[in-house]
Amino acid sequence: MVQSQVAIITGASSGIGWELSKVLAQEGYQVGLIARRRGSLGQLAEEIRSLGGRAEFQPADVASRGEVLEAIRRLSERLGPADLLVANAGVGHESLVDPLNVDQIEEMIRVNYLGAVYAIEAVLPEMLRRGRGHLAGVSSLAAYKGFPGQQGYCASKAALKTFLEGLRIQLRHRGIAVTTICPGFVHTPMTAQHRFGMPFVMNADEAARRIARALRRRKKVFNFPWQTERLAKFAYWIPDWIIARTLRHTYR
Ligand SMILES: NC(=O)c1ccc[n+]([C@@H]2O[C@H](COP(=O)([O-])OP(=O)(O)OC[C@H]3O[C@@H](n4cnc5c(N)ncnc54)[C@H](OP(=O)(O)O)[C@@H]3O)[C@@H](O)[C@H]2O)c1
Repeated sequence: MVQSQVAIITGASSGIGWELSKVLAQEGYQVGLIARRRGSLGQLAEEIRSLGGRAEFQPADVASRGEVLEAIRRLSERLGPADLLVANAGVGHESLVDPLNVDQIEEMIRVNYLGAVYAIEAVLPEMLRRGRGHLAGVSSLAAYKGFPGQQGYCASKAALKTFLEGLRIQLRHRGIAVTTICPGFVHTPMTAQHRFGMPFVMNADEAARRIARALRRRKKVFNFPWQTERLAKFAYWIPDWIIARTLRHTYR
């Protein structure tokens, strides 16, 4: 149990973030919940409290640096400084070419990459001052390969993964752990619209339990499940024509 420790989770209003917030609360964390949908955050906070946990929430758009800093400042006032941050908020849009859907590509960079950077900015000074803390970001196995029709999403997740990698090494002697979480396919509202089959897909509660275990172990990088990790890494090495032939029905 991690009694009285504080965890901030972004993207807590649905999917992986929702389930992970509950698991962390069960482990004894006091959880601070962030996303845009106030109603869903309130519902989750109630659920956690009814099970004996402590939860506070603060709506914010993680694409706005000011909103993220303010939300985490307010949560810290109520709960205390963050011991653990899980920057999980994310959006996924298909990448189109005719025309290029630049607005959606920008949104993915703002939310999936910069949103995590802003959340880290909010908690890092106090972690550095105390000489302890744990930063985690939810990237994706999609970070390992630019898949056709997903290149905008893959690029945003690769940016986050690469940022966390350097940060982890830079913070090595400052008492702050950094964990990069790269899930394969998980059943959530984000993947409900996918037009392709999702190999080795798992439910969000199972994904959350696995992520929580990796966080307890302070893993540097957590790729899961291993079968999808193998597929993603294999995809990096195989020729374009095989990727194109295999995935042609999945992109426009
Ligand atoms: N599902 C998968 O197969 C899968 C695989 C690999 C990685 N991931 C990553 O896992 C993370 C969670 O995704 P999920 O599958 O659980 O999707 P989800 O159910 O759609 O949840 C996404 C969460 O992010 C929040 N969010 C989106 N845009 C936001 C914004 N501008 N500001 C604040 N919060 C925002 C959403 O809340 P609001 O709408 O209330 O703001 C929601 O809570 C994402 O980073 C995703 O890329 C998912």
